[in-house]
Amino acid sequence: MGFIILSLWLWLLPATVLLSPLPDMEEEQEEPCRTYTHEALLYLDCAERGLTELPSGLDYNAQVLLLANNNFATFPEQLKNFHQVETLDLSGNRITGALPSYIVGWQRINTLNLSNNNYDSWLRIENTFNIQKLDLSKNKINRIDEDAFVRMSRLAYLDLSENRINNLPLGIFARATSLEVLSLSRNYFSEVPKFQSPSLRILRLSNCQITSIDKDSLSEMNSLLEINLSMNEIESIPDNLASNSLQELDFSYNEISMINDQTFSSLPHLAVLDLRGNEFREVWSSSYFASNPFLREVRVKGNRWSCEGFRVNLLLTYEFLTKEPAKVNDRGSLICYSPSNVTQLSWQQAYIRTWHADENTTSSYTLMAVLFGMVIGTLITSCVCRGIMALNPPPPRVTPETTALNGNATQRRAESVEIRVPLREELPPSYDEALLMPRLNASFHSLPDFVDEEDNNINNSNNNRRYRRSRSIGDLTETRPRVHDRREVSVRILMGYKLRNLTFAVLKAVKVGSNDRQT
Ligand SMILES: *[C@@H]1O[C@H](CO)[C@@H](O)[C@H](O)[C@H]1NC(C)=O
Ligand SMILES: *[C@@H]1O[C@H](CO)[C@@H](O)[C@H](O)[C@H]1NC(C)=O
Ligand SMILES: *[C@@H]1O[C@H](CO)[C@@H](O)[C@H](O)[C@H]1NC(C)=O
Ligand SMILES: *[C@@H]1O[C@H](CO)[C@@H](O)[C@H](O)[C@H]1NC(C)=O
Ligand SMILES: *[C@@H]1O[C@H](CO)[C@@H](O)[C@H](O)[C@H]1NC(C)=O
Ligand SMILES: *[C@@H]1O[C@H](CO)[C@@H](O)[C@H](O)[C@H]1NC(C)=O
Ligand SMILES: *[C@@H]1O[C@H](CO)[C@@H](O)[C@H](O)[C@H]1NC(C)=O
Ligand SMILES: *[C@@H]1O[C@H](CO)[C@@H](O)[C@H](O)[C@H]1NC(C)=O
Repeated sequence: MGFIILSLWLWLLPATVLLSPLPDMEEEQEEPCRTYTHEALLYLDCAERGLTELPSGLDYNAQVLLLANNNFATFPEQLKNFHQVETLDLSGNRITGALPSYIVGWQRINTLNLSNNNYDSWLRIENTFNIQKLDLSKNKINRIDEDAFVRMSRLAYLDLSENRINNLPLGIFARATSLEVLSLSRNYFSEVPKFQSPSLRILRLSNCQITSIDKDSLSEMNSLLEINLSMNEIESIPDNLASNSLQELDFSYNEISMINDQTFSSLPHLAVLDLRGNEFREVWSSSYFASNPFLREVRVKGNRWSCEGFRVNLLLTYEFLTKEPAKVNDRGSLICYSPSNVTQLSWQQAYIRTWHADENTTSSYTLMAVLFGMVIGTLITSCVCRGIMALNPPPPRVTPETTALNGNATQRRAESVEIRVPLREELPPSYDEALLMPRLNASFHSLPDFVDEEDNNINNSNNNRRYRRSRSIGDLTETRPRVHDRREVSVRILMGYKLRNLTFAVLKAVKVGSNDRQT
C-alpha cells in the first residue's frame, strides 16, 4: 500500500511542480476553511471537505458558516465559540441530535439549514429560538412534537419536504405566528392535513400520495393564498371546499374527472386554477365558475376532452375561457380528444361544424352554395358598379335626402345604404345587411339579458339587472329548454359574433331561413 502511494507520489511530483506552485497546496492543507467578506458579512466556508470536526484557529466572528457536505455526525464542538452567526448551513451531513442550546441562544441566527441529514424526529425546543428560515428537507422525519415550533415565533419559512411525515397535529403551527411558507412536498400524507395557522400564505403538498381532501381542510388557515397539490392521487374535489383567502389552487396531475357548480363556490378569491393533466372528459359548464369573479387564469392542458353530444357548453365555455382577457392562454389545450370525427378541433370548431348536423344536410348545403354564389355575385356586381361609377362620376343630383344633409357626400352614402337595405326579420340577411348588423359588443355574457329584453318587450330594467347578476352563461340551456328557442338564442349569438367570421354568420342566417321555410 505504502509502496503504491509512494510511487504515485513520485510519478505525480513533477506534474504538480510544473502545474501549480507548491506553496498554495501547503496553505490549503494548513487552512481547510476559507474566510472572506461578502456583502458586509464575514463568511467562513468549510464546505465539502470531508470534515468530521472543525479545525481550530477559526475566526469566531464569522456570520455565515458554510459547513455543508462534510461528515459531521453531531454539531461540531467548535460551534459554541461563535456568537455572531446569522446563517448556519450544515446540509449534507449525518447529524441526528437535538439542537445544542448555544445555537438556540444565538441572538442573530436567521437561517439554519439541516437539509439532507439523518433526523427521524423533530422535538420541542425549550427556549426561544429566533430562527426565521429552517430547512429540514431530505431527512427521515416521521414524528414531530406538537409543540416543536411553539418557541419559534419568528419562523417564516419551514421546509419539511422529502421526509416521512404522514400526519400533523392540529395545533402544530398555531403559535408559529410568523410562518408564511411551509413545504410538505414529498411526504406520505394520504389526505390534506388539517392544521391551524393564522399566518401561512403558501402551502406546498405536491407528491404526497394524497387521495382525498376534506372541504374544511383549509378552514383554519386564514391567510392562505396558495396551495400546491400537484402530483397527488386526488380523484375528486369536495363540494364547497372552503377558504376565504385562497387565490391560487394547483391540482395539476391528479386524477380528477369531474367538477360541478359547487366545487369552487366557496373560494371567493380564487384567481389561478391549475387542472392540467387530470382526467376530465366532459367539457365544463362556465357556471362552475360563477362564484369566482376574480378568476384570471385556468390551466387545462393534458385532459382528454370529449366533445360527444356537442352541447352548447362547447361554445359558451370556450368563449368564457378565451374571451379577452383570456383565462386560458394556451387555446390549443381546448381541443376535442373524442369523438374521432372532431379530434384535434377546438371546442368551438367542433360545435360549429356540427351545427344542426341532425337536420337535412343536403338541402342546407345546397342553400349554402346558392347563398355563397349570391354573395360573390353581389360583391362582383358592386365592384363593377363602383368601377363604372368611378369612370363616369354622376352629376350631383339634388334629392330630398341630400338637401337634408347639406350635401355631405360621405354621410349621404352611408345613410342611403341603410335606407336601401332595411333589416328584415323573416329573411336571411345579404352580405351588405350582415355588414350593417349591430355588433354584439359584450359577447355571450350579455346574451341572457339581450334575449329577455327582446322576448318580453317589457320595461323592467330592474329585473334585467337582477338577471345579469344571478344568471350565468351556462344557465342558458336550463332556462330555455325548448330546442327551437335554444337555437334561436345560439343563432343570435353567432350572428352577433362580432362578425368576426362573416361568412359563417351569413351561412347560419340562411339555415334559420331554411328552418322557417320547412316549418
Ligand atoms: C439548504 O441546502 C440545500 C443543499 O445545499 C440547498 O439546496 C437549500 O436551498 C438550502 N436551503 C436554504 C433555506 O437555504
Ligand atoms: C407545484 O409543485 C410542482 C411540483 O413541485 C411544481 O412543478 C409547480 O410549479 C408548483 N406549482 C406552483 C403554482 O408553484
Ligand atoms: C361527428 O359524429 C357525430 C356523431 O357521432 C355527429 O353528430 C357529428 O355531426 C359529427 N361531426 C362532424 C363534424 O362530422
Ligand atoms: C331532406 O330534404 C328533402 C327535400 O328537401 C326531403 O325529401 C328529405 O326527406 C329530407 N331528408 C331528411 C332526412 O329530412
Ligand atoms: C361630413 O360629415 C362629417 C361628420 O359628420 C364631417 O366630419 C365632415 O367634415 C362633413 N363633410 C362636409 C363636406 O361637410
Ligand atoms: C364595448 O363595451 C365596452 C364597455 O362595455 C367599451 O369599453 C368598449 O369600448 C366597447 N367596444 C366597442 C368596440 O364598442
Ligand atoms: C322605460 O323606462 C325608462 C325609465 O325607467 C323610461 O324613460 C322609458 O320611457 C320607458 N320605456 C318604455 C317603453 O316604457
Ligand atoms: C370561419 O369559420 C370556419 C369554421 O370555423 C373556419 O374554417 C374559417 O377559417 C373561418 N373563416 C375566417 C375568415 O375566420
